[in-house]
Amino acid sequence: MEQFKDRIVIVTGGGTGIGEAYCRGFAKEGARVVVADIAAEAAGRVAKDIDGMAIRVDVSDEVSTEAMAKTAHQRYGRIDILVNNAALWTAILPMKPWTDIPVEEWDRVMAVNVRGVFLASRAVFPYMKERSWGRIINISSTTALSGVPGFLHYVASKAAILGLTRSLAREIGDIGITVNAVTPGLVSTEGVKSHYSNEALQGRVAARSIKRQQMPEDLVGAVMFFASDRAAFITGQALNVDGGHVMH
Ligand SMILES: NC(=O)c1ccc[n+]([C@@H]2O[C@H](COP(=O)([O-])OP(=O)(O)OC[C@H]3O[C@@H](n4cnc5c(N)ncnc54)[C@H](O)[C@@H]3O)[C@@H](O)[C@H]2O)c1
Repeated sequence: MEQFKDRIVIVTGGGTGIGEAYCRGFAKEGARVVVADIAAEAAGRVAKDIDGMAIRVDVSDEVSTEAMAKTAHQRYGRIDILVNNAALWTAILPMKPWTDIPVEEWDRVMAVNVRGVFLASRAVFPYMKERSWGRIINISSTTALSGVPGFLHYVASKAAILGLTRSLAREIGDIGITVNAVTPGLVSTEGVKSHYSNEALQGRVAARSIKRQQMPEDLVGAVMFFASDRAAFITGQALNVDGGHVMH
């Protein structure tokens, strides 16, 4: 099945972790994938594997996001789908009490995780608008639904994504662009495995209705659904994918 044949997809943060799984999933379904990541080497490796295109981007930077969209459009002539997946996440955000978060760290998390979604969406918008079709899928987190201690800035940034998703959906629904969010539970990426103890990961497993570890591939179906024609009348929504831990 090639349900995304000829669709052009940009995945930010597509060079590693869950973003890489989105890139591979879309490529398998016939899409042309732009792997956009601040880690240029990782993006290049994934793009090579899936016959896609790698672009180095810093999503927190306006000029960089505009260059990303322009370069993708120049190469493929259109942009259909944007997955706003890039974020600063626990792998580089050691857990700490909220009173110990330096202001600079708070600002950097907001710049990447929230401003990054705004800027990448705004950069692709003119190209989606010109075809009156587009899909924007924002990656939030179950932490925004349940609240967790240890990284207040991260959780606040992921909650902001839910508000952004709803408001942007209202602003651009009329021109054929949908905006939805996915909230993943704790995913056993290499980054998570190296930062969480085995006991902590097993604790998450026990709390789920489906008692196994969550893998990057578990997210791909939800993201693809929002990106597909089947979700044409769904916008401003958030779908929780965590094996039935948080009931949302
Ligand atoms: N792993 C989890 O358990 C989990 C749970 C809930 C939500 N999420 C969310 O899923 C997404 C992916 O998570 P992951 O675990 O794969 O993270 P990850 O840290 O493995 O990957 C994040 C990617 O984003 C890139 N990136 C970071 N800053 C960037 C910037 N300024 N510009 C462009 N790219 C940048 C990194 O280079 C990396 O490739 C994130 O939005 C994260 O918040 C992850």
